[in-house]
Parts: sequence; C-alpha cells; structure tokens
Amino acid sequence: MSTLSSRERSAKPFELLFDQKQIARKVEELGKRITADYAGQTIVLVGILKGCVVFLSDLMRSIELGAEISFVSAASYRHGTRRDDEIDVLDCLDTPIKGRHVLIVDGIVDSARTVSRIIEVLRKQEPASLEIVTLLDKPASHRSKVQIKYRGFVVGNEFVIGYGLDNMQKYRNLPFVGRLIDR
Ligand code: IMP
Ligand code: MG
Repeated sequence: MSTLSSRERSAKPFELLFDQKQIARKVEELGKRITADYAGQTIVLVGILKGCVVFLSDLMRSIELGAEISFVSAASYRHGTRRDDEIDVLDCLDTPIKGRHVLIVDGIVDSARTVSRIIEVLRKQEPASLEIVTLLDKPASHRSKVQIKYRGFVVGNEFVIGYGLDNMQKYRNLPFVGRLIDR
C-alpha cells in the first residue's frame, strides 16, 4: 500500500513501458482487424474522454472504412464510505447511433466500471452492434464484467501515463506509455 500523497506521486518520474514504434505497430494491427471485421460497413467510433484522444486519432487513420467519431465523458463520484463509485455519463454524443455499428474507444480499462456504465447508456440507444477497443487493459483489476473485443496491451496493477493518459492531468502529451515508479 503506497503512503505517498497525490502531490508526491505526481512529482515522481516514470519509466518506459511501450515506445512509439511498439504502439504504432499495435495500433496498425488493431486497425487492420477492425477493418476486416467490419468490411463493407460504416462504423461510429465513440471515444471516452479524455484518455482516448491520442489513441483514437491514430486508430481512426488505420481503419479503412467509413468512420464517424463522437465522444462521451464520464465522471465518478465517491459517496462517503460506499465502496463503489457512482459513475455519471455526461452524454455529449452528437451522432445518432440507433442501428449503427458502434465501437467504444478507450485509452485504458482498469476496474471496467466506466466502460460498463457507458455500455449501459449506449445500449439504450439500440445500436446494431456495440464493441470495445482499448489500447491498454488491466484485466486483473476488473470489477465489472465486460467483453473487450479489441485490446492493445495488457498491463498489471501499475499506474501508467502518456499517449493520452494522465496522472493529475499531466503527461497526456508524452508520445510513449510509461509507468510511474514507486520508490
Ligand atoms: P475504470 O476503473 O475502468 O472505470 O477506469 C476509469 C478511468 O481511470 C480510466 O478511463 C482512466 O482515465 C483512469 N485510469 C485507470 N487506470 C489508469 C492508469 O494506470 N493511468 C491513467 N489513468 C488510469
Ligand atoms: Mg485520469
């Protein structure tokens, strides 16, 4: 159990986990799979802000299909001693998804509660299909059941930053994925 304050933690350095080449190769591979799986169809990419932004902008360029993009954001609130956070989906979808093939784009899935909540909200709009693509996944941390069809890399129980992912809003613009070092 870390005893660092969030301030101390945000000042910590990081070490490289996935470099630009590894990420580019993986994104290309995911784009190819998606292109093949949805051949002949158009899709709607729904990004989860803000962690999706770098991944989504690279991924969409490696998908050779008609693709629209839209975004949702989610905020979690901790209520007193309740174990579970409540997740509010701030629905800013500007694209009707009824009858469309929808691919949720996330930077990282951790407890999977955010993406589960977003699935619940989007399902009500009756898309033709609904799948998830995430660059990073922490399967050992999942607390909600989700089927992740497309995943880039699996990471353990560590905190990662860069390529869109932040620690206290910092590091999103790093072109690689690093892990914060605990020492
Ligand atoms: P959830 O636990 O799957 O609901 O994830 C909630 C959000 O926490 C993710 O979308 C990320 O924004 C953030 N998050 C979880 N793990 C990490 C991490 O290792 N680095 C940066 N952000 C993370
Ligand atoms: Mg964050």
